[in-house]
Amino acid sequence: MTTTAGPADVLLRMSGITKRFPGVVALDDVRLEVRAGEVHVLLGENGAGKSTLMKILGGAYHADAGMIELKGREVKITSPRDALDLGIAVIYQEFNLVAQLSVMENVFMGREPRIPGRPGVIDWARMRRETAAILKELDLPIDPARQVGKLGVAQQQMVEIARSVSASADVVVMDEPTSALTDHEIIQLFRVVKQLQARGAGVIYISHRLEEVPQVGSTVTVLRDGRYVDTVPASTPIPDLIRLMVGRDLTKQYPKELVEPGAEVLRVEHLERRGVLRDASFSVRAGEILGIAGLVGAGRTELVRAIFGADHLDSGRIFVDGKQVAVHHPVDAIRAGIGLLPEDRKTQGLVLLLSIAENISMASPGDVSRRGFLDMRKVAARARGFVESLRIRTPSVHRLARSLSGGTQQKVVLAKWLASRSRVLIFDEPTRGIDVGAKVEVYQLMTTLVQQGAAIVMVSSELPEVLGMSDRVLVMRGGSIVAELAGDEINQERILAAAMGQEHVVAA
Ligand SMILES: Nc1ncnc2c1ncn2[C@@H]1O[C@H](COP(=O)(O)OP(=O)(O)OP(=O)(O)O)[C@@H](O)[C@H]1O
Ligand SMILES: [Mg+2]
Repeated sequence: MTTTAGPADVLLRMSGITKRFPGVVALDDVRLEVRAGEVHVLLGENGAGKSTLMKILGGAYHADAGMIELKGREVKITSPRDALDLGIAVIYQEFNLVAQLSVMENVFMGREPRIPGRPGVIDWARMRRETAAILKELDLPIDPARQVGKLGVAQQQMVEIARSVSASADVVVMDEPTSALTDHEIIQLFRVVKQLQARGAGVIYISHRLEEVPQVGSTVTVLRDGRYVDTVPASTPIPDLIRLMVGRDLTKQYPKELVEPGAEVLRVEHLERRGVLRDASFSVRAGEILGIAGLVGAGRTELVRAIFGADHLDSGRIFVDGKQVAVHHPVDAIRAGIGLLPEDRKTQGLVLLLSIAENISMASPGDVSRRGFLDMRKVAARARGFVESLRIRTPSVHRLARSLSGGTQQKVVLAKWLASRSRVLIFDEPTRGIDVGAKVEVYQLMTTLVQQGAAIVMVSSELPEVLGMSDRVLVMRGGSIVAELAGDEINQERILAAAMGQEHVVAA
């Protein structure tokens, strides 16, 4: 413990917090102290208990034991309403906005201003005025009357922040706020976080992007396996933070091995989708990892979704092992040996009401079937292998996917595609939301797959990952492939220049 401040400085203190779910101790005697005007980063591997601790603070879950003190006074939080009334605003991994309502209605939800003397009548003019004032103060160019569902993810997040400001929240919790933001939006978010801090709020900030810790944080508390580990300054070197999180030293971060490329496995020619993809052609060989870089919105996800048959193509041809394949639907792609780990795994990759084991076997039932029936013993045994290698935190492979932590769900989808042993595996943002230890495992598995003769296409916004793992890199911009880089050409400057349109290297 490096905490030295007296009780007077402490805005929020959670102590002895314990929470059990059937078969899991999610939190065991956890403590957290947050001061006014600090950004307190909460770190820990997938399933460490971060979101659960915040759900207890936000009144969504009840702790089995423990105490919460706010400004030195013990408080009881039994519902989200209680939390809000106490000045605690929690912005969850899944947002809480009502898409059909306007920005101002969302900002003032449950606290709508009334016309004086006419308590039943909402004062719309005042609501709009005050929302506009808050948005202006936060320097956010959003129309208060705009329907929330029409806003992008980043702006929706800003609306959540505006709501916490309007409720004069003293404690603002952000659970993985940057996982779906572009670099530019992240800078904007950090600016708003600094403003909350300057207003004297205590901000609790959860992220798996460790490089953000010194940028935005003041203090860090680390959880591991549901237990409190330590509280340290945000300036603590990242390798030390990793050691606290995973309890061991990590092996090489990018376990890339040179594999002699074999025959061409996937080739796409002149893929077109009006307004989205323009004349995209490329190929990838067995043993190769092909990185696809580009800014958010460059068409990378659109390209791989079209190859997988998830989106329709206006024209173009797809070949697997030299034979043209007709892909109109993901089923066609899977049959042809193409697998896609989608970017949005929670909604596109997972059946929440099936077990971990069933999800893992979904794309490759043949391997674990006998005479057309699933052999549940094999299904479970294979799942146990992945639970081990990917460090999936769960008491049993029979747990429903729904009960897993956000990052753990992602690992399950990953396992599904690793199990499928597809000829071509397309990973869209393979490590988003995945903790630092599991990232290395994912890279290790990719390496093993290409050594076994698979071809991998990896879409990634994490430049270090692209640089560390790719044999070749395609850069996309405005729906086109604008550059192809190999060998020494693969460096940050070349990729960024191409992504931003400052350089044209014609694809071979
Ligand atoms: N509603 C629930 N039912 C059963 N188990 C749950 C439930 N919510 C959380 N858990 C379990 O509690 C543990 C902690 O999960 P939590 O979501 O807090 O992790 P986390 O640190 O936020 O992870 P991530 O980084 O992946 O988001 C996990 O083992 C998870 O499976
Ligand atoms: Mg979480």
